[in-house]
Amino acid sequence: MTASSPKKSSPRRKPSSSPDVAQATDGGAPTTEVPDYSRLSGDYHWMYDDVGLKLGTQTPGVRAALRSLPPNAAVLDVACGIGLDAKALANRGLCVSAADASAEMVALTRTWVSQCDPVPSVLQSTWLGLHEHFAPHTFDAVLCTGNSISHASSDSEMVRWLRSFRSMLSPGGMLVLDVQDWEVVRNLGDRLNVDPRLIERDGRTCRRTWTWRFPAEQENQCRLDISFEVIRGDKTTVSTHSVDLRVFARSELRSATVSAGFGNPFLDRVPGDDMYTMVAYSPDDPHSPDDPHSPDDPHRTG
Ligand SMILES: C[S@@+](CC[C@H](N)C(=O)[O-])C[C@H]1O[C@@H](n2cnc3c(N)ncnc32)[C@H](O)[C@@H]1O
Repeated sequence: MTASSPKKSSPRRKPSSSPDVAQATDGGAPTTEVPDYSRLSGDYHWMYDDVGLKLGTQTPGVRAALRSLPPNAAVLDVACGIGLDAKALANRGLCVSAADASAEMVALTRTWVSQCDPVPSVLQSTWLGLHEHFAPHTFDAVLCTGNSISHASSDSEMVRWLRSFRSMLSPGGMLVLDVQDWEVVRNLGDRLNVDPRLIERDGRTCRRTWTWRFPAEQENQCRLDISFEVIRGDKTTVSTHSVDLRVFARSELRSATVSAGFGNPFLDRVPGDDMYTMVAYSPDDPHSPDDPHSPDDPHRTG
């Protein structure tokens, strides 16, 4: 089924022992530790200029890809963060499920989407654990935004994650990612980026600072420190969060996506932007030899 065909109204959840909030298990395959978003989750809304946006995701290619979906398509947001995209998509009539490894993010998403009709299902799951919650080939689209894929520690881990996303997609289903354009950001080197815009929210003002570091001894690594200086009246609080990210070329993401069994990935870049979108489709034949749900290799490292 293609992403634009008419679709069921609710995604198939596994009936078994998968509770809404599950252990962050990874289906037995070795993987990096899931990054700890527990502290950042409380400040995460400051990352957005406007939490009332129709879609949190700013990257134009993501917006265009999502516009191509029919109103009742089944969409899985695998890195829902605080749930802005999930809410925006549900309000467009899409049938949304949202997942994230972080219990705190999941809780914030649940609150954020609680007024939607219907309310998206929200659960805690790592990417390799998705199959514990959803039947294979359940979704018309899988969304992984906000540079989340840069948490992969290696090419092979990225392939495993992409393979898991693919296992969730119906034949012809659409994967939509947005990613830091590391070829742009890496070239700028170590730098301190103070956002000139001040964000006003709930009687508070926030100044955001991003510090990018590319350690010489670790060619493919970026340490990003995100600082929020929040002023309310005469009180100022500063919180800083460090995130370790993997640096990779566009061609590496493209080949990882092909290795995971997707068709020719399409990269959409806006000149001057430091993010880009990748859209790729699952093959029309769900039983192709590379099917992630083939009995012989549910978690091949490819
Ligand atoms: C940078 S945030 C992006 C959130 C949201 N998509 C956005 O654009 O604001 C990355 C999210 O990915 C989640 N995440 C990272 N690694 C994960 C994994 N292995 N499995 C599931 N979620 C993961 C984090 O908990 C976090 O909420």
